[in-house]
Amino acid sequence: MQTLPDFSTKTLAPERAAAPCVAVGVFESRKLSAAADALDRAARGALRTVLKGGDMEGKLGTTRLLYKVPHLPAERVLLVGLGKETEFGPKAYRDAVRAATGAAADTGAAEAAFYFVELPVAGHDVAWRARHAAVVAAEVLYRFEAMKSKKSPARALKRITLALARKSGEADAARGLAEGRATAAGMALAKDLGNLPGNVCTPTYLAEAAGRLARQWKLGVDVRERRAIEKLGMGALLSVAKGSHQPPKFIELRYRGGAKAAKPIVLVGKGITFDTGGISLKPAAEMDEMKFDMCGAASVLGTLRAIAELELELNVVALIPTTENMPGGHASKPGDIVSSMSGQTIEILNTDAEGRLILCDALTYAERFDPAAVVDVATLTGACVVALGHVASGLYSNRDELAEELLEAGREAWDRAWHMPLWDDYQESLKSPFADVANIGGRPAGSVTAACFLSRFADKYAWAHLDVAGTAWTSGKSKGATGRPVPLLTAFLLNRAARA
Ligand code: BES
Ligand code: MN
Ligand code: ZN
Repeated sequence: MQTLPDFSTKTLAPERAAAPCVAVGVFESRKLSAAADALDRAARGALRTVLKGGDMEGKLGTTRLLYKVPHLPAERVLLVGLGKETEFGPKAYRDAVRAATGAAADTGAAEAAFYFVELPVAGHDVAWRARHAAVVAAEVLYRFEAMKSKKSPARALKRITLALARKSGEADAARGLAEGRATAAGMALAKDLGNLPGNVCTPTYLAEAAGRLARQWKLGVDVRERRAIEKLGMGALLSVAKGSHQPPKFIELRYRGGAKAAKPIVLVGKGITFDTGGISLKPAAEMDEMKFDMCGAASVLGTLRAIAELELELNVVALIPTTENMPGGHASKPGDIVSSMSGQTIEILNTDAEGRLILCDALTYAERFDPAAVVDVATLTGACVVALGHVASGLYSNRDELAEELLEAGREAWDRAWHMPLWDDYQESLKSPFADVANIGGRPAGSVTAACFLSRFADKYAWAHLDVAGTAWTSGKSKGATGRPVPLLTAFLLNRAARA
């Protein structure tokens, strides 16, 4: 659905760039970046005159548009505030690109040349800067209008050039850009699926989307229907699906970029296409946001798209258990006891704790791949939003090295996670007098006890769990899916491929 702008890299002195819009940075207070300085010299001080006039301080995120600056071939020069030079880090860099993209998109320019990838960002190289320029620009330009009868007019801005004044960084910039473009495309796919309403994006729709992805990128695909899910013994997944008129699916996608014998990394995504809570019904307020309860699944699909485009030399399997969680005469009730694929029996004390029920069977199924690692992604608990808000995803793992790898990928991708405890002490609360385990602990540490529940099904391999309840979408005026944690997962797999 979503088309990204056309990105490219180019080496060209800024004062010779004839683009419709040339964007350069200005530090606070009124200190020109190298590219801005080159423009100013060629324009015989025209930029400095604007700054001296008090029109631009260089505050982070501010912009000033100049037309037809004498002696420059560019139609427009966009000055972009970078904030204090001493404080110019990854966040400021991304904020500056965000502001530049927004301002450029507000003009009639079809192409913008961004002179940002040579700005020094402490600890981050040209490839990182190109990767993030593409991801951030695509984020700003993303629109979701699939469900509107009247689409807004096509934007003029079609092309973004990541320009360098010096040739030396070009290969690295091109590599970073390719990573950024693939990440952005994966995020756009995840956002599109997340933003679709629950009456369109059903389990059947997700299965079809996976099929399209498989055809487009030559992935192996299997979609298990209810009968096959029963045969596998996935009683926990089926217990959630019971209340719905939509048939559940168990989706398996296989990307083979690595050696035949190389153990795969398995990604598992929660695919609840709408979560009413079931018989333990949720309150009405904001329940519409529970259409986003399949964002874990969407991020796994988006990540597969990204790594397929990048042709990573790795084997990756995606598993998506998907169903609605509905109340009704056939729905599971509090107190019901079901058998999971692992053989463990589960007492369902709250039907709204359904994510862990569909994930546990997928985690057991993952054993058959003898995986190098399994990472599940889920909008699992409101408690995680209470703990970490909308900034960090909650990270849990039964291997500290794997946790560290994912944390590092999150930092690098600016899609950060925070390591949460998975200590045995928390397992206590999941005791059931009637079954092997209960599906909820108490109110305390709700995100931790949910992870503890999952850990009981992931003891055969290195496993990590990302609770993205607070990060997968935003609420309020700019409500919408964020595409997280596609950047983290893609960075993780990129690093794994480089290591292999
Ligand atoms: N999908 C929700 C988690 C959620 C809630 C994500 C709000 C984002 C915002 C999940 O299925 C759920 O309902 N979890 C319950 C668990 C509880 C019953 C132990 C929750 O968080 O309230
Ligand atoms: Mn729920
Ligand atoms: Zn849910």
